[in-house]
Amino acid sequence: MMEVVRTVAEMRERVAGWRHTGERISLVPTMGALHEGHMSLVRQGDELSDRSVVSIFVNPTQFAPHEDFTTYPRDESRDLAMLEKADVDLVFAPDVTQMYRDDHRTKVEVQGLSQILEGQFRPQFFIGVATVCAKLLIQTMPDVAIFGEKDYQQLCVIRAMARDLDLPVQIIGGDTIRESDGLAMSSRNTYLSNTERTLAPYLHQEITGVARRVKSGDAIEVACADATQQLDAAGFKSVDYVAVRDAETLEMPAQGRPMRVLAAAWLGKTRLIDNVAV
Ligand code: PAJ
Repeated sequence: MMEVVRTVAEMRERVAGWRHTGERISLVPTMGALHEGHMSLVRQGDELSDRSVVSIFVNPTQFAPHEDFTTYPRDESRDLAMLEKADVDLVFAPDVTQMYRDDHRTKVEVQGLSQILEGQFRPQFFIGVATVCAKLLIQTMPDVAIFGEKDYQQLCVIRAMARDLDLPVQIIGGDTIRESDGLAMSSRNTYLSNTERTLAPYLHQEITGVARRVKSGDAIEVACADATQQLDAAGFKSVDYVAVRDAETLEMPAQGRPMRVLAAAWLGKTRLIDNVAV
């Protein structure tokens, strides 16, 4: 039977019981509005542990004032039904007052990594993400936590944060789950109009093209500039970045090191991000 708890105290009580009997615990943090991308992480969590925990919390501190916090899709009963079917043991669904007291003052910032790429366009975003994930990991104390490669920079930030703070957890990256036309699944895809939805797969197509060209020896700057131009021409309102970076540090790529292509672009009012390995 899946249990839903809404307070940190109850959360701690449940996991303390499991720890006591030596059971291995996994955590998959989410903001709800679950889709197959989330569920693939949930299944990995289940496989890697005796007790699987999924959190659902739309974290206000990672949204800028002009962003979509109030309109972010929420459907808790649907989410809970999906998690129940997937054999999750515990869902942690706190409200904002549980996570942030009125006098909350502490922020977690992974310097450098939080300011580049996504961070240039969403300066507070990774501070909000790192802070809430640090809290969730400390509240749950899982042996393993699973994050999607879909949000590749987020995964890098969480890995760095867990290492820097000596959190006793293994961070695992799960593959990006895509629609049949290549579009990475995202809770925000529901914002897309029909026309925008038909254009959306171009983002994956273009970054896959960049990966192929870079692999075959083309100049990185040229491949990225061409992809940006193609996206503009296809009707993306503005391309925030198309970049090739070191797959581990996200710094400028160096010869012989694994690389990653990362991109963010707007379709109307919806901002899409995606990434692929070179
Ligand atoms: P959310 O967007 O709900 O995503 C929860 C987890 O699902 C993240 O690790 C994300 O990378 C992963 N995910 C999303 N789409 C995916 C896809 N198509 N394939 C595979 N994994 C996918 O990311 C967040 O929430 C928040 O920032 C959070 C980490 C919960 C902190 O608030």
